[in-house]
Amino acid sequence: MHDFKFKNDELYCEDVKVSSIVKRVGTPFYLYSYKTLTDHFLKIRKAFLKLNPIICFAMKSNGNLSVIKSLIDLGAGIDIVSMGELRKALIAGADPQKIVFASVGKTEEEISFAIESGILLFNVESEPELTHINLIAKRMGKKVQAALRINPDVPAPTHEYINTGSLKKKFGIDLRTTRQIFKAQKKYPYVKINGVHIHIGSQITSSTPFVGAIKKVTAFIEDLKKEGIDIEYLDIGGGLGIIYKDENPQTALEYARKVVPLLQKTGLKIIMEPGRFIVGNAGVFVTKVLYIKDNGVKKFVIVDGGMNDLMRPMLYDAYHEIVPIKKNRSVKAKFDVVGPICESGDFFAHERMLPQVKSGDLLAVMSAGAYGYAMSSNYNVRPRVAEVMVRGKAFKIIKERETLKDLMKGEIIVQWS
Ligand code: LLP
Repeated sequence: MHDFKFKNDELYCEDVKVSSIVKRVGTPFYLYSYKTLTDHFLKIRKAFLKLNPIICFAMKSNGNLSVIKSLIDLGAGIDIVSMGELRKALIAGADPQKIVFASVGKTEEEISFAIESGILLFNVESEPELTHINLIAKRMGKKVQAALRINPDVPAPTHEYINTGSLKKKFGIDLRTTRQIFKAQKKYPYVKINGVHIHIGSQITSSTPFVGAIKKVTAFIEDLKKEGIDIEYLDIGGGLGIIYKDENPQTALEYARKVVPLLQKTGLKIIMEPGRFIVGNAGVFVTKVLYIKDNGVKKFVIVDGGMNDLMRPMLYDAYHEIVPIKKNRSVKAKFDVVGPICESGDFFAHERMLPQVKSGDLLAVMSAGAYGYAMSSNYNVRPRVAEVMVRGKAFKIIKERETLKDLMKGEIIVQWS
């Protein structure tokens, strides 16, 4: 479900020909569709209308100011994990009362700035963190709100690196400790413990693990109630999977049908933190073919983008569809699509069936809107690429390509004398 489509054999983003953008910005770059981005947000909102949840976009998936502003304008809140994200969210105009802050390692500086900013909830990931927040709030003479992030210890079938809901992982607090904390609330007079939070992992394509985790946590909330402990918020995290290849993920509506009845029973205010579901298919990475190499064993398509620009294939062995932006009907063969970086992990695809592309051809690496630019780096002293957004017939650069000056920012050539 996205707005990247072929018309007359040319790839378009909404009503703009991708090749016309290349003429203006060069390659490589990330390209986002405003329509896909906002449609996906609206789909979740519609599916969950009954509950009217606060939908906090997980900006770790894409922190571009224009991306988050487009969602904030539609009423989105923001799920943040750092000082930088908080500052950017506020600059983009986010309502602090729709900001939730998760992270297993919140620093003193981050906690005090978040208190000062008046965020809705700290999603607390350990008892020492709660003690720390209480102390800082006391010093500042403020009372803050927190939810405890429960680690429900449920299996979530996804890549090991993005599976967070098991007690073998660093995230959240086990149920026994959570209960103890709730019972000992008086120890934290500057923190109103007013919710629970879960996030079991990312790119989860079936609703079963979500249902399992929500059932576990709602039963826990019921138990708390019986003991006279009432809370106001339940944050169900993000994690909804999308289509990269041949996945058959639940739609927003299917997900809602499964979980809304469970959530409704609680009577709590619901918070959600989708990232990938909103922005994943709303972005592509456009890169140019530099050379074709055939070493007798393998054929390589060497492109100008690298693992520093999109590291998901290298990090998770993630599949991203790759298409020439001009329809190419030549006979397909198997290629490795690789970048210029000095590592064998620098690849976009292995053994991929592609038509015969040639030097100068342009390729779109699909479904790269989430955790694409956000995880890019300057490895090999490569500038971070430009980001462009299309809305209807118009396109705008929403992040300039980095310059040599950016690449050297803050560096000092040492002088000892
Ligand atoms: N809430 C919390 C507390 C999270 O840690 C995350 C993602 C989300 C929400 C949003 O999850 P989503 O809806 O996007 O699945 N770099 C990896 C994904 C890392 C996910 C980290 N946490 C990737 O490229 O697949």
